[in-house]
Amino acid sequence: IHAYQYLTISEPRPGVGQATLNRPMALNALSTPLIAELNLALAAFDASPSIGSIVLTGSPKAFAAGADIKEMAPLTFSQAYTTSFIESWSHLTTSIKKPILAAVSGYALGGGCELALMCDMVYCTADATFGQPEIKLGTIPGAGGSQRLTRAVGKARAMELILTGKFFSGTEAEKWGVAARVFATHDELMVGALATAETIAGYSQVAVMAAKEVVNKSQDLALRDGVEYERRVFHSLFGSKDQKIGMKAFVEKQKPEWTNE
Ligand code: CAA
Repeated sequence: IHAYQYLTISEPRPGVGQATLNRPMALNALSTPLIAELNLALAAFDASPSIGSIVLTGSPKAFAAGADIKEMAPLTFSQAYTTSFIESWSHLTTSIKKPILAAVSGYALGGGCELALMCDMVYCTADATFGQPEIKLGTIPGAGGSQRLTRAVGKARAMELILTGKFFSGTEAEKWGVAARVFATHDELMVGALATAETIAGYSQVAVMAAKEVVNKSQDLALRDGVEYERRVFHSLFGSKDQKIGMKAFVEKQKPEWTNE
């Protein structure tokens, strides 16, 4: 077990790994060391056979108030370019196979909003505060916000949000399709997020990972290619033990005992 400086990890429900951003003095601003720890923690959950799904959250006050402005302020172009600044954030989207549910309370601004959008699902509180305020700092979203927010809410709204920097609420996030569900309080949010994560962790990991993979492909591929991709993965699951177990259990009116094989 790792000791982390900027986050805590736990297993609050069977099969559910929770990573809680914990940099309260900076409203969980996403510094490079924090992201490095997050990548380590997520990779450890992904590698752990007993974990089936992951919840990423912050505090009631802040999911994350953005990339660390104090770290970015003095950066030069060549430093940002040669060190591929922000690129390490994408490990979450390229190398983690288990589903990640973002549970967002409080501020999810700039890189914090983008981090939530990188997750596979977002739940939030009604009074969560989302936004891409980079324009107010003389810059633009740099962790996928212009692409993922636009896919989530459409060009008209994304353009307005990114050009004005104006915030939007958790209620709006749910209405516009950024969040799947909205809750009245932080406690209710966590109960709901952990219940969903536990449900997911109760299924075959092979099927869950494949489902996550194909849904995420829909964001990259044209419809026809995506449907073909899905069919290939669907066909491949006939090679898994859990497909046989799941369908046999249905036919025999039994509860399936997944092997994750
Ligand atoms: N980076 C570094 N430090 C931050 C931070 C950030 N993104 N957000 C907050 N903090 C720090 C503040 O500097 C402050 O530290 P000190 O006490 O040492 O001064 C502490 O957290 C508490 O913040 P505030 O006093 O500002 O708290 P508040 O309640 O008055 O305001 C807030 C809250 C509206 C979220 C405000 O902190 C804020 O506007 N934060 C910045 C939001 C932002 O612009 N995010 C986008 C960053 S750019 C980006 O993310 C680029 C990208 O796309 C990758």
